[in-house]
Amino acid sequence: MVNAYGGVIIVADVLLLFLKIIFYLFESIYRFFVPAEEKSVAGEIVLVTGAGHGIGRELAVRYASLGATVVCWDINQEGNEETANEIKKQGAARSFAYKCDVSSRDEVLETAEKVREEVGNVTILVNNAGIMPCHSFLTHTPEEIRKLVDVNLMSHFWMLQAFLPSMIEKNHGHVVALSSMAGIVGLPNLVPYCATKYAVRGIMDSICEEIRQISPNKINNIKFTTIYPYMVDTGLCKKPKSRFPNLLALVKPHEAADQIISAQRRNQMEITIPSYWLTVSTFVRTLPYKAILQVIDFVDSGVEAES
Ligand SMILES: NC(=O)c1ccc[n+]([C@@H]2O[C@H](COP(=O)([O-])OP(=O)(O)OC[C@H]3O[C@@H](n4cnc5c(N)ncnc54)[C@H](O)[C@@H]3O)[C@@H](O)[C@H]2O)c1
Ligand SMILES: *[C@@H]1O[C@H](CO)[C@@H](O)[C@H](O)[C@H]1NC(C)=O
Repeated sequence: MVNAYGGVIIVADVLLLFLKIIFYLFESIYRFFVPAEEKSVAGEIVLVTGAGHGIGRELAVRYASLGATVVCWDINQEGNEETANEIKKQGAARSFAYKCDVSSRDEVLETAEKVREEVGNVTILVNNAGIMPCHSFLTHTPEEIRKLVDVNLMSHFWMLQAFLPSMIEKNHGHVVALSSMAGIVGLPNLVPYCATKYAVRGIMDSICEEIRQISPNKINNIKFTTIYPYMVDTGLCKKPKSRFPNLLALVKPHEAADQIISAQRRNQMEITIPSYWLTVSTFVRTLPYKAILQVIDFVDSGVEAES
């Protein structure tokens, strides 16, 4: 009898599972036409790494314009202070600039402590700082490879260990990470870079699930958003090549920042920039390998080695 009872439970569970899947499928179709409302970031403390230039600077300025207190971190003090001053010129919002090399665990933990004392607990963390040396794999020196891994990958571990505890305590917070389309598709001249960006995806997908499972009733109010930009016009990407320069135009940094903040405020788990790349890459991945190669050769876009 116990077995029959157990069997009924499983059948009921499976039915329920299918109903829930169907519900969320319809929800996502609905959300495609009626996007979720953007939550307010006013009063939040936002920390942006790599805020001294490019996407990081645009993110810092825009978060400030939305009423957040913004903490700018960069290894480049001059650029970082320019960003903080630009925010102050805007008016109301508070901004703080700290020089920090995010690849150094000691510096991250020390600077995090200063931020806690001088500003408060960070509630939105944007792991944006990154570097992108671009040349063929065998011409990468060991030092360069280690540095890439330290800046683009290890920094995420140190930042999360520094800032997650207070988010977990309050079950409130948001972590945004900059991966790249190079974290979904392998690209020539970017072997170590791609490795770090694939790894960022691994960190974000797993930490998100770990936090969900330890949250009270699995109601996780710490959200995670991973960003996969294609090419953004910041100078990071020195020699882009594209067979279709109009279709695959470089995105302006402020446009990228708008899309990142909008995804964060809507609690989206992942976005590509431009957004159609997510659909395209998901579809292409289901094709047989030889067919994928045809697509790659047809599109013929990527980055050329820096001289
Ligand atoms: N620009 C693109 O085409 C593109 C595409 C995909 C992903 N991304 C990613 O977006 C992020 C931002 O890129 P961007 O184009 O704005 O770059 P950027 O070079 O314009 O700015 C990066 C900032 O990070 C800072 N930085 C570098 N190393 C650091 C360190 N060790 N500690 C602290 N700060 C450090 C730099 O000083 C600079 O201010 C990066 O993670 C990058 O990999 C960029
Ligand atoms: C920051 O969070 C810690 C717990 O993680 C708490 O003890 C402290 O009071 C908080 N600080 C502020 C300014 O809210």
